[in-house]
Amino acid sequence: MSKKRVAVLISGRGSNMTALIEAAKAKDYPAEIVLVVSNRPEALGLARARDAGINTAIVDHAQFGGDRQAFERTLDDKLRAHRIDLICLAGFMRLLTPWFVTRWNGRMLNIHPALLPQFKGLHTHRRALAAGVKRHGATVHFVVPEMDAGPIVAQDSIAIGDGDTEETLAARVLEIEHRIYPRALRMVAEGRASLASAGKHEGTR
Ligand code: GRF
Repeated sequence: MSKKRVAVLISGRGSNMTALIEAAKAKDYPAEIVLVVSNRPEALGLARARDAGINTAIVDHAQFGGDRQAFERTLDDKLRAHRIDLICLAGFMRLLTPWFVTRWNGRMLNIHPALLPQFKGLHTHRRALAAGVKRHGATVHFVVPEMDAGPIVAQDSIAIGDGDTEETLAARVLEIEHRIYPRALRMVAEGRASLASAGKHEGTR
């Protein structure tokens, strides 16, 4: 089977993007990262992607003066021009409209630094500490129109210790992210996880 063509969408440093690029170097990996798109021209991840020999593009939302549809149409055109099969959001800090999400229904993943459905949105590490939860982690899920609410593909967690701070948690959760995102993309690219099957457990009742 031919490898799935993947675009990674970033806004920042791109460490998850790098983890995906590294994983995709393996001969038997079912996906190749063919494009990295940033909505911010200054994103550090762009240079990392170029260094890895990956095509990069900038679709700067600020150039569209708040016209989300125009921004997303340009992004969509770019993805189609590169014949993208799957999108991985990796620290991509723009909310996508239902129009875009529907166009990529079942073909777009996101990584979130918390154990969804807990702590959707921002500042997840701070909120986990404030809530006093004993475990915290990261989740890869399919993107649906509602933010951070799509079916879960992969998830892993760590125990929160007494000495943990927002910074130590962020670092430990990031290690989880780098491990589970390549695993989740592999499952989706191989057809072993889909929008219909994700988030469900098979079993007898
Ligand atoms: C990660 O923690 C990701 O889960 C969150 O934003 C951060 C991006 O980090 N959505 P990086 O750009 O992948 O290094």
